[in-house]
Amino acid sequence: MPNESTTIDRAAALRAALADRLCADGKITSPAVEAAFRTVAREHFLPVEVSLEIAYGVDNPVVTKRDKDGVAVSSVSAAYIQARMLEQAELRPGMTVLEIGSGGLNAALIAEVVGPHGRVVSVDIDHEVTDLAEVLLRSAGYADRVTVLQADAWRGVPDEGPFDATIVTVGTGDIAPAWLDQLTADGVLVLPLIMNGITRTIGFRRDDDHLASTSTELAGFVPLRGAGRQVVRLTVLQDANGWQVTLQFDAHVPADLGQLHDVLAAPRTEIWSRVTVPHQTSFADLHLWLAWFLPGFCLLSADDGTELAGEHGSWFPYAVVCGAAFAYLVARPTPDGDGVELGARAYGADGDLAAGTMVEQIQAWDRDGRHTTPTFGYWPADSDHSQIPAGTSVLDKTHGVVTIRWPERY
Ligand SMILES: C[S@@+](CC[C@H](N)C(=O)[O-])C[C@H]1O[C@@H](n2cnc3c(N)ncnc32)[C@H](O)[C@@H]1O
Repeated sequence: MPNESTTIDRAAALRAALADRLCADGKITSPAVEAAFRTVAREHFLPVEVSLEIAYGVDNPVVTKRDKDGVAVSSVSAAYIQARMLEQAELRPGMTVLEIGSGGLNAALIAEVVGPHGRVVSVDIDHEVTDLAEVLLRSAGYADRVTVLQADAWRGVPDEGPFDATIVTVGTGDIAPAWLDQLTADGVLVLPLIMNGITRTIGFRRDDDHLASTSTELAGFVPLRGAGRQVVRLTVLQDANGWQVTLQFDAHVPADLGQLHDVLAAPRTEIWSRVTVPHQTSFADLHLWLAWFLPGFCLLSADDGTELAGEHGSWFPYAVVCGAAFAYLVARPTPDGDGVELGARAYGADGDLAAGTMVEQIQAWDRDGRHTTPTFGYWPADSDHSQIPAGTSVLDKTHGVVTIRWPERY
């Protein structure tokens, strides 16, 4: 068994290696965030069974709590995501920062960046999370700089603030009015925003009466609980053996889903797009594109026994409902073996229509989207929506609208 000093040396070496790697990969871009990653002992905040190698991995989220169905409700985010969010928040010494979703580790990193004259308020809806975070932060020496509170952060933290930065570490379908009320005039709001089922972690600053994005990252988070939780609609289809395929809709649910009854018994159609993607190349922005520009877009999951599940590895959980059919994103190897061609496969009487509609948008993304990066806006309900620039696409939320602008689309 390794003795204590060997373990401490190994942790220090892994900590330095993680910071080196995050800097080399461009995930850390400022000296203050680098110093925080070189200082905070990640293992102190993680369950004892988590090895040092996992604790200091670049991309190792650690689930710390699950609900009765086994679904993750709390976790410590992967190191690279924490690094990116701290950079997105543009933190500086002396700032007062709100962290929504607690655990201790990320609050300690923020506390290092804002320094002895700064302050962190870390809020979690779950008292088990806050109780533990408080103990861990105190024993690590951060009690004087970090206040841990148990509350549903959707309503803000009325006795605290205003905040120079708010970092939301839980997936949210909308921006709570309280988060904007408690943000300083030049404050930064960083949050994983779910847009029609697809999440981007967006850094926002105020621009007059609305918000404009300053940065965007790809990341997944556990969903917000409490008053602001997002309601999704599920449509469950059954095959002849009783196995289920589930379609999950966010904001827009197609009118006549009854037409999908029995579609799994119908023959399938497929259409290929001639759009190819080399191996090891992300096409995550295609999912975002489909979520914004494909009416009837939904997320797809399938029981293990279904025909769909049997097509293991050749399909992605993004689908569209069109009339009496649904189509989903598929890929097949290119003849040269260097990548995949994207296409759509569909179940139902309107299968050609559904697959064709999806393929049209794959081709539109290839033409107008894949080589540029979108920017986002958020216009609260009380802002002047007539000022939303022409050629911007809009997604309705409860407390405002999200906008996207894809430079070459318009
Ligand atoms: C990904 S974890 C937080 C990770 C943490 N910031 C870290 O150190 O990496 C997300 C947390 O958000 C919390 N949460 C969910 N809904 C919330 C709400 N409405 N208000 C406050 N916290 C919430 C969950 O209980 C969970 O602990």
